[in-house]
Amino acid sequence: MPVSRLIRPNSVSTSYTTTTSAIRLCQITSQKKCNMAADKVSVPELLDLTIDNITPNAIKINSQCKDRRLRYVMERLVTHLHDFARETRISTDEWMAGLNFLVQCGQISSDVRHEFILLSDILGLSLLVDSINHPKPQNTTEGSVLGPFHTHDAPTLENGANMSSDPQGEPLLCICTVKDTKGKPIEGVKIDIWETDSTGHYDVQHSDRNEPTERCVMVSDATGDFWFKCILPVSYPIPHDGPVGKLLLKLGRHPWRPAHLHFMMEKPGCDHLITALYMRGDPYETSDAVFGVKKSLIVEPQKIDSATAKKYGVPENSWVLKHDFVLTTDQETANLRDRLAKEALEKQGLNLKLVDHLPVPDLD
Ligand SMILES: [Fe+2]
Repeated sequence: MPVSRLIRPNSVSTSYTTTTSAIRLCQITSQKKCNMAADKVSVPELLDLTIDNITPNAIKINSQCKDRRLRYVMERLVTHLHDFARETRISTDEWMAGLNFLVQCGQISSDVRHEFILLSDILGLSLLVDSINHPKPQNTTEGSVLGPFHTHDAPTLENGANMSSDPQGEPLLCICTVKDTKGKPIEGVKIDIWETDSTGHYDVQHSDRNEPTERCVMVSDATGDFWFKCILPVSYPIPHDGPVGKLLLKLGRHPWRPAHLHFMMEKPGCDHLITALYMRGDPYETSDAVFGVKKSLIVEPQKIDSATAKKYGVPENSWVLKHDFVLTTDQETANLRDRLAKEALEKQGLNLKLVDHLPVPDLD
């Protein structure tokens, strides 16, 4: 439906007007940059488009794109979006509500709040994308969702340091190793670690944040070990004062995540691992708002014994968590991803091939 037919002077929302102006501005800018003459457009004429023929025609005009991966992604996006509209017989009000919802997601986002990641998380898309791109061979550490609270300003701390400044939290000592699939320690892995404070808030959620807290970067030593002090994680609700929270409410879903510690591990040659460890017995263990929990990532901290407390210099009332992370290589992941992609494409009967590990139509 042409945009002009949807403008109703008495009911146009501010955001719609803004969006329309933005589109017009883009059109003017694009016209200045792109002087493609109409007679150079090499697609059949697009006239009298209907519910039934709009999809192939939209695909046709996008088929001028030289980048075959972008061309393929746009073809599938248009196909699924149009099918979605046809299948749901979506109303104009619903369509506009959806667009306004996206505008609101953008408006509430900032350097420290990414509402679109939250949206992707609660739709299950984040987990799906990670699972496609980072398949894990058996007996390696599985991935989990990144979430919107990772930052790039965490201090690098030495083994044994305390990354928490929250006196209200229950002290937890984490003793970890990083190994490869053959059990060999991996030295020099950069490990980002982050968690909430005892009230269930990340530091970036505090308006008076002066410096990073409850987060750090560590580097595994020659024996693949790293250990640090923090606090026992607590369950917390994802930010639910914005459009994503309102959506969860309408869907009858709670916004809670079970208690967890985030980890991100990277070293050249190793597959980039984004994961989290979840505390066993959390009431939200099986209903995580963002679908992040996997059985292999559920851990059970123990009360520390006196000898270990003394050895690591932590209070006797501390908890202790021991965990071994197993990293796969870039190459192993790329091979596995390619194999799984080819199997999935074959199963769907699609005439595609992989170029740079990504499917494109096989026209050769
Ligand atoms: Fe989290």
